Order: sequence, then structure tokens, then C-alpha cells
Amino acid sequence: LQNFSVGPDPPRFRPAYLQANTSNLKLPEGFKYGVATAATQVEGAVKTDGRGPSNWDWACHNYVSWCNNIPPDVTINHYYLYKRDIQRAKAMGVNTMSFSISWSRVFPFGLSNSPVNEEAFQYYDSYIDELLANDIEPVVTLFHWDTPLNLISEYHAFLDGRIVDDYANYAETIFRRYGNKVNMWITFNEPKLLKAHATAVQRYRSLKEQGVIADGQIALKHDGSRPVPFDPNSLSDNELVERHSDLYIGIFSQPIYGNGNYPDRVLDAIPSNILPRLTPEDQALIKGSADFYAIDAYTTQVAKTPPNGIEACAKNISDPNWPICQDVSGDIPQYSTVTGWALGAAADPLSSWLGDTSSLLRYQLNWLYDNFPAPGGIYISEFGFAEPFEYDRTELYQITWDERRATYLLDYLNEALLAIYEDGIPLKGTFIWSLADNYEWNLATQQRFGLQHVNYSTPDLQRSYKLSFFQEPPG
Ligand code: NOJ
Repeated sequence: LQNFSVGPDPPRFRPAYLQANTSNLKLPEGFKYGVATAATQVEGAVKTDGRGPSNWDWACHNYVSWCNNIPPDVTINHYYLYKRDIQRAKAMGVNTMSFSISWSRVFPFGLSNSPVNEEAFQYYDSYIDELLANDIEPVVTLFHWDTPLNLISEYHAFLDGRIVDDYANYAETIFRRYGNKVNMWITFNEPKLLKAHATAVQRYRSLKEQGVIADGQIALKHDGSRPVPFDPNSLSDNELVERHSDLYIGIFSQPIYGNGNYPDRVLDAIPSNILPRLTPEDQALIKGSADFYAIDAYTTQVAKTPPNGIEACAKNISDPNWPICQDVSGDIPQYSTVTGWALGAAADPLSSWLGDTSSLLRYQLNWLYDNFPAPGGIYISEFGFAEPFEYDRTELYQITWDERRATYLLDYLNEALLAIYEDGIPLKGTFIWSLADNYEWNLATQQRFGLQHVNYSTPDLQRSYKLSFFQEPPG
């Protein structure tokens, strides 16, 4: 820690023109206004203080080009710089911070009957205390894609049911350690195994009932989005919307928030050797295993049946807010996607599909709330904006004047407010991805989502505030 400089003072003012323009609407009392990060993407220090290797360390060292030739060894060194980073989060005005714990830091060998690394606890103890001392509520994700490598050698990790116990024991270890300081938990980020989630939730609820830990809430962070039909009057485009929604969202949400089982379209589309069926016992375990609904809401798609799916895509290709255009095929009939990093309002070229009255964000939130109501309401557990690559490579844009991101974030928050006040959605919090540029998985440092610029050429990975950092949360 001592080797790193502290950096400039946090800013003390916000330009007036960056205040939200839904002026009469305020964030409700108790709203969680936060930023989000994840261990692999920010911590670095992968061989420090007893941490074991994860799947990402292995993959990025063995297939370096797959990770853009940069393994996640250092990322933005948040492990060493977290105190300074937390000060900056505080200066930004957030009251909540969502981060993940590195499983392989806590259990270097993954297996729950293998040693626990006490040094990992010292780090997370200090981390959580630092947040609390700065009036920032910690929201902890237990699994954000980094699997202890040894679990892959032992039994292929998530391809084997043995992971359920190892994961649940890891989760319980963390609940016992932090369950009196942390009141909001996420089992999995953008999940792939329901039983491990539900078993961890069962452990959490039982510790609560026994009075071992405080009365908090737990859920998982979903991804996926409900597409918009290219032609609202086309039966086949509408069926594609339903099919995509079931295959990407319903597959996890219906078992948890609905009847306990996968949607019929999923059962019809995916054979049981690929997706083992849920037994009545599984269904009883999984049904109701979340206190709130959390969605990482970044993008949406336009659903268009063949043969001209690509046309929907080409329509917006010149718009820099929607830079990526791709065809997706497989077991789903071909449809085209317009994948931008902008689900907000004004920046939202797809709003025309919905008429003038609503944004895609409200469309998503209304559909989720109607179909998967959760007692603890809805959270937007991540949203954010990445500059297109060509801008990233231009030093001028790399610095700080990110007007498009700043506008996008304000538009998005305004739409979130309208969802609350106009549509009656119990939206309880929003988390911006991310506090600073960081390690974007296989794109490594190439794609930047940060409210702060990270200069990867400086020894202390210097952070500089971007314009978007200064936005005023409504109210
Ligand atoms: C969601 C993922 O949870 C996060 O890890 C990723 O960096 C962001 N999306 C942006 O792609």
C-alpha cells in the first residue's frame, strides 16, 4: 500500500449542467445509488497474500491472445489502491458499492475442505470497514465469473454437481464472516447454475433464522434482455421475442420467481442431456430463492425473423451509440441484434419501435416486474457505457471529456425515475458500471466503462476523473 501515491483531492463541485433534468423527480428515500466492480476486473495482486489461481488467470496466461495479450495480473491494482478509490467513490456521492469477493483468494484450492486463507479475510475485513466508515453500503457478489482453478482440475467445476456443496460452503463461510456487516448479497453474477444459487440462499436464510447473522436480503444478478419486435404486427417477430425472453431470461427467472420450473419453450428447445430437468425437489429448493430481482440492464435486441434479419441491424449501423452489429444463430432461428451500450432514453435509437411514450429501459423494467415480481423490488445491478474502440485508441478521447457517457447516464437515470413515478415499478437502486476503467474480460483494457480514466502506462495506474464522474444524482 505504501508504495502508491494517494492521488489528487476529490472534486468539491459538480457543474450545474450535469444535473439531472427530470427536475421535479427525486430519488426515493433509501434508494441505493451505487457503482459496481468485480474482483477479477479490478483487484490485480493475483499472487499476493496466498491467493490461488482462477480460471481467468489460467486462460489468459495460456491463451494470451484470447485476453487481448493482457492477463488480469494487475488490472487496476484496486487491491492496493482501494482506500483511495473508496474516497473517490465517496466524492462522487454514491451511498452503495457493489463488488465481488474472489473465491480463490478465500479458498486458494477451491475445495471447501481445503485451507481457508486468513489473509484474504484481512483484506476484505479492511475493505468492508473502509466502505462502512465512509457511509457507503457494501453489496457483495460471491461469484463474478472467477472459479478457483483447482476445481476445474478436480472435477470440471460447474460441469459437475459437486460444485454445489463447494460453492455453498464457500458462501456460508463468507456469510458467517460478514453477515452482520453486509445486508445485501448476490450469489451469482449473470448465472449458469441454479442449484448452487438456491443452496447458498438456503444456507443464508438458515443463518438468519438462527440469529447468527443480520436480517439482510439475497438474490442473483440476471442478464439478458427482452427484445423488441422489428415489426410489432408480425406474429413471427413477436414469437421470436417470447422465445428469446424465455431462453435468456425466463430460463433462470421462472424457476426462481415463477412456478419453479423452466419455461415450456426452454424445455422444448433444449434437450435434457444438455439441460438436465429440474426434479420436484430441485424445484422446491429453487422456487422463491431470491428476495429481490436484480438485472444488469445494458442493451437490447431487435427480433426479426429470417430471411432479412440483418436489415434491422444495418438500419442503425451508422449511429455511434450502436456500434456493434451481429447475427446470432444456433438453436434459435436466426435473428439480428443491434448491440449497443445504450439502453437509455435520448441515446436510444430503438425508441421508435415503442412509439414516443416509453424508453427501452421502461419496457424492460415493466416486463420484468409484470412477469417476475419479487418481494424486495427491482435493482438495476449494472448499467454503463463503453466508448467504441476506435475512440479508445485516440488519446484525446481517452482522457476525460466523455460527454456521451455523461448524457447517457443522466438520461438513463431519468428513465429510471420515470419507471418509478410513472409506471409504479418498485425500483430500489441503480449501480453504474464502473467506478474506473478496468479489465473487461477478453477485451482486457481495450474497452473502457469507467467514470474515471485509468492511465495504464503509469506505474500507479493513475485515475483521472471523467466528465461523467461529476453527474448529480437526481434529488
Ligand atoms: C456485465 C458484467 O457483469 C461485467 O463484468 C462487465 O464488465 C460488464 N457487463 C460490461 O461488459
